[in-house]
Amino acid sequence: MTLSPAHDVEHGRRVASMFGRIAGFYDFLNHALSLGLDIVWRKRLVAGIEMDREREGCVLDLAAGTLDVALEIARRHPRTRIVAADFTLPMLRRGQAKIKPDDAGRIFPVQADGLALPLPDASMDAATIAFGIRNIRPRQAAYAEMLRVLKPGARFCILEFGTGKRRIWGGAYNFYLTKVLPGFGRLVSGDAAAYRYLADTIRAFPDEDALAGELTRAGFTAVSHTPLASGIVFVHRAVRP
Ligand SMILES: C[S@@+](CC[C@H](N)C(=O)[O-])C[C@H]1O[C@@H](n2cnc3c(N)ncnc32)[C@H](O)[C@@H]1O
Repeated sequence: MTLSPAHDVEHGRRVASMFGRIAGFYDFLNHALSLGLDIVWRKRLVAGIEMDREREGCVLDLAAGTLDVALEIARRHPRTRIVAADFTLPMLRRGQAKIKPDDAGRIFPVQADGLALPLPDASMDAATIAFGIRNIRPRQAAYAEMLRVLKPGARFCILEFGTGKRRIWGGAYNFYLTKVLPGFGRLVSGDAAAYRYLADTIRAFPDEDALAGELTRAGFTAVSHTPLASGIVFVHRAVRP
């Protein structure tokens, strides 16, 4: 279904308002609901950019949220600067409090929409997005913006849930996704809609091959993916030609 630009703008507003409401619970619920696996998944995402440890580059983390990916990039690449872009200020504020004084001069949280990044053309050496692409509409516009800001040859890595339609672990994961997760999320955050939204968007998300097709049609090359936790999530990798 193709929605009008007005729907996309309204969708963005609703997403930003929802993450603004749950920002205070986000980290706790992330770790609790994934049983801590999200920490390992973000490490796998950052390993996917395959940058030299000593390189003095600039990496974009889009939909940076509370900065866990940005902090992992900083840990793994001690000489790199990181632009951590997200349009929800309360999420970035939570993240900012986690930046160590030594890293304060090289992690830059920026309130920005992934559809209109305040970055020059061909300025980024790599880019990541964790659990963010699912929320952005239209995805094609986000890919185009990513291609614009990446340098030729730079990698773009996505960490995202696989489609929730496939049965995983004999259906136990699917039960967890539709029943346990929204209930637990509601209990802790008091926000039923936010955690129903999470389950709904995972179920509606394209599978890994469809996502690879989108990235290729958008203009990326060397598109590949790796399943983690039996395909609950995937790391997708692509290169800006
Ligand atoms: C599920 S959180 C992921 C946060 C973080 N990457 C992580 O791994 O925990 C999704 C984030 O995407 C952000 N987001 C959604 N659409 C966006 C857009 N169009 N531009 C910028 N940020 C966006 C939300 O504000 C939210 O912080």
